[in-house]
Amino acid sequence: MKFLDVLRQTKEYLEKTGMDSPAREAEIIISHCMAADRAVLYGDNPEVKNGILESIRALSKRRARREPLQYILGSVDFWGLKIKVGQGVLIPRPETELLVEEAVNLLTRISQDDENLPPPLPSAKREGWRGNILDLCTGSGCIALALAAAFPQAQVCGTDTSKVALEYAKENSVLNNIHNAEFIRGNLFEPLGKNTLFDLIISNPPYIKHDDLKNLQPEIRIWEPGKALDGGEDGLEYYRAILTKAKYHLKKNGFIMFELGIGQSEAVCHIAAQGGLRDITLKKDYAGIARILIGKSGMV
Ligand SMILES: C[S@@+](CC[C@H](N)C(=O)[O-])C[C@H]1O[C@@H](n2cnc3c(N)ncnc32)[C@H](O)[C@@H]1O
Repeated sequence: MKFLDVLRQTKEYLEKTGMDSPAREAEIIISHCMAADRAVLYGDNPEVKNGILESIRALSKRRARREPLQYILGSVDFWGLKIKVGQGVLIPRPETELLVEEAVNLLTRISQDDENLPPPLPSAKREGWRGNILDLCTGSGCIALALAAAFPQAQVCGTDTSKVALEYAKENSVLNNIHNAEFIRGNLFEPLGKNTLFDLIISNPPYIKHDDLKNLQPEIRIWEPGKALDGGEDGLEYYRAILTKAKYHLKKNGFIMFELGIGQSEAVCHIAAQGGLRDITLKKDYAGIARILIGKSGMV
């Protein structure tokens, strides 16, 4: 069978499952299985060998069961890194790259004391900053590893309760040849020593309201780990838990940064102020939603 015939067949098969972009997804699955660029496949319309056809059908079957495409392909690009993902670990989202971008901007400003720096490039090496970073709820390790790559002199620690997620995080550090990040299993700050202090605490915690979980699209609701999403009754449980303890783990003039869910900024600003943070600011994403909160340690 030729590529264009396989493409049409795969698209029609995926279409029946009611997904949004069957043609695009069919292209991605086929080019992944054939290890070839889509433009080349369209140009050459090559013969698809039987073994490859079987793989295309197997992956399409998985996608038809609404398994996320990222799990099927096995990895995502995140801030210039290849992050391996699969069942049991949250797929890194584009808005989380914004959190990394803001953190890189902040640490670059601190290290160079320059407010007028241009925006950073993914994985740009900033040899200078030598502080330490704690990434709570690290999951695949995407945030911890992006910051460790951007600041090779820094020490980064990620914690998570999920054994599976931490296995991915450790594998991702090897895959990306990163040596300044470590991953520890446990509940938020618990696995750390009592007196361990950080320059930056960063987190993208679970923040979906418990009752909203059932309304999520099947790719998320069925396949992604509920514990990575469930922020409790009002979605704010983790912000409260982190902000109650953050002051004991921040250095003088240290920073805390969060990714926020839609409509949570006012409530989290309030919790942060109660937790003793100062200079609290919000950053909007490209859709104009307040997505990132930055606060400074109350200790002056
Ligand atoms: C929203 S995901 C974020 C994952 C990753 N940081 C990212 O941005 O893609 C939240 C993560 O928090 C972890 N988690 C849930 N409860 C936790 C707890 N009490 N302590 C530490 N991690 C927790 C979950 O296992 C999950 O990996």
